[in-house]
Amino acid sequence: SHVFINGQWCQPEEAVVSVFDRGFLFADGVYEVVPFYTGYPLLFDDHYERLERSLAQVGIDNPYQREEWLSICQTLAESTPEANGIVYIQVTRGAEYPRNHLPEGELTPTVMATASPWVPPVETPDPVHVEPFEDIRWLRCDIKSISLLGNIMLKQEAKKRGAFEPLLHRNGRVTEGASCNYFMVKDGCLYTPPNDELILGGITREWILELAESAGIEVKETAFSLDELMQADECFLSSSTREVQPVGTIGSTTINNGSIGPITQQLAELFRNRRP
Ligand code: PDD
Repeated sequence: SHVFINGQWCQPEEAVVSVFDRGFLFADGVYEVVPFYTGYPLLFDDHYERLERSLAQVGIDNPYQREEWLSICQTLAESTPEANGIVYIQVTRGAEYPRNHLPEGELTPTVMATASPWVPPVETPDPVHVEPFEDIRWLRCDIKSISLLGNIMLKQEAKKRGAFEPLLHRNGRVTEGASCNYFMVKDGCLYTPPNDELILGGITREWILELAESAGIEVKETAFSLDELMQADECFLSSSTREVQPVGTIGSTTINNGSIGPITQQLAELFRNRRP
């Protein structure tokens, strides 16, 4: 498999980054995850625009134009032996010595991109168990930052409790997962927390909202509490790698008798039918 590093293509073991890279020292960088199906990146423009936004928010110059990013993604998608996979893109502020919190010099961003194999769900997966946790992360979760310590700590806690994923809330208000967005269905209406600074606006989340609207399902991007979610008719989570993943239990509360609900099923099928 190829690695793209600062404009060069090489083997993983040949790819080299400075130990003074600010990504390594400070997690000073942003990333994207773009799924590809049969060699085609899904919703590339949306991923590109989010990368542009993340870079702008942290003040790193976008090193490439849209077409160059697309060509990097396509080359990676075509270079893997598998038809389906994940492209990972990372841009850090660059290397700087001596170590200094405040970036000062004219730095050249470090760009790395790689692809890994991935098997998209063929059928809708079985409902999973999630565990609620207080959201201990920072207040700019809208930036796709490579600084993911909070997310990792929460994932580990969830794993200890046998959960597939944490369900994060701030003082009772549901935000998202450690690497996914959450939805609930109540009385036929689809709810998901608003796209503010407390969540990463998922590309999959946006796509699901569009699919729901075009199917005539009522949609509300509104904050809801953990208690309200416990009373929901259906619950599912979404991400580029999980697509539509039904949730069967939240802590000790069972949702829809632990089985997949009709609207979740409908959206999962719409998602599968509309991807390449
Ligand atoms: N994570 N929220 C968080 C905190 C995420 O890390 C992700 C994605 C999402 C869903 O975003 P999208 O639908 O655009 O994948 C929401 C990726 C997959 C990752 O970190 O690997």
